[in-house]
Amino acid sequence: MYFLPEALDDYVVSHSEQEPELLQQLTRETYQKILQPIMLSGPYQGRVLSMISKLIRPKSILELGTFTGYSTLCLAEGLQDDGELHTIDINEELVDFQRKYFNKSTYGPQIIQHTGSALDIIPKLNHSFDLIFIDADKPNYSNYFHLIIDKLNAGGIILSDNVLWHGKVLEPLDDKDKSTKAVLDYNTLLKNDTRIETVLLPIRDGLTISRKI
Ligand SMILES: C[S@@+](CC[C@H](N)C(=O)[O-])C[C@H]1O[C@@H](n2cnc3c(N)ncnc32)[C@H](O)[C@@H]1O
Repeated sequence: MYFLPEALDDYVVSHSEQEPELLQQLTRETYQKILQPIMLSGPYQGRVLSMISKLIRPKSILELGTFTGYSTLCLAEGLQDDGELHTIDINEELVDFQRKYFNKSTYGPQIIQHTGSALDIIPKLNHSFDLIFIDADKPNYSNYFHLIIDKLNAGGIILSDNVLWHGKVLEPLDDKDKSTKAVLDYNTLLKNDTRIETVLLPIRDGLTISRKI
């Protein structure tokens, strides 16, 4: 879904950084072999994630929702040389695919994969983080926020994806639509929590930046 008119969106993309060749390969193979390739962050959002990570220069990153590793590699571009990126996904069938691409990049040794439910894994991580990217199952977004907020360093950033949920945040709410309800609740939670300051950016499906005070 385009929130900008398509021609303007094309202009934005064509005046932004190009996607690295490795991510083009990863995208091709994801479309050939993996179900729901539409879940990939994609070239423009990927460059946004890379740019934000390079601005922060994090020593530690946590990602919820690895999928085939596209956003992982974008975020890793900003890691400090001795930094680490922990990424969690519940789908064990993706682990080898992810590792193949992590090892093709220069960030392989810095990326630690965790397989299982993020709700179970986050409490076991004995780390604090400078940058956290939330892009897993929408119904748990608020639960993830409560689990990670004490693991986020002061000045650290949470990036939350899909916060406009294909525009459904403006539509009348169907009681059976758990994901839309969850995204609405999550957006309110971020806006009202006094431990963070938040800006919702209308990038792709909506990307919120929250900074811990
Ligand atoms: C939208 S995709 C992530 C896309 C990826 N960040 C990217 O930009 O290419 C969401 C991922 O969350 C994972 N996921 C869903 N529920 C999860 C859970 N409870 N714990 C961890 N991962 C989960 C799915 O397996 C899926 O790979």
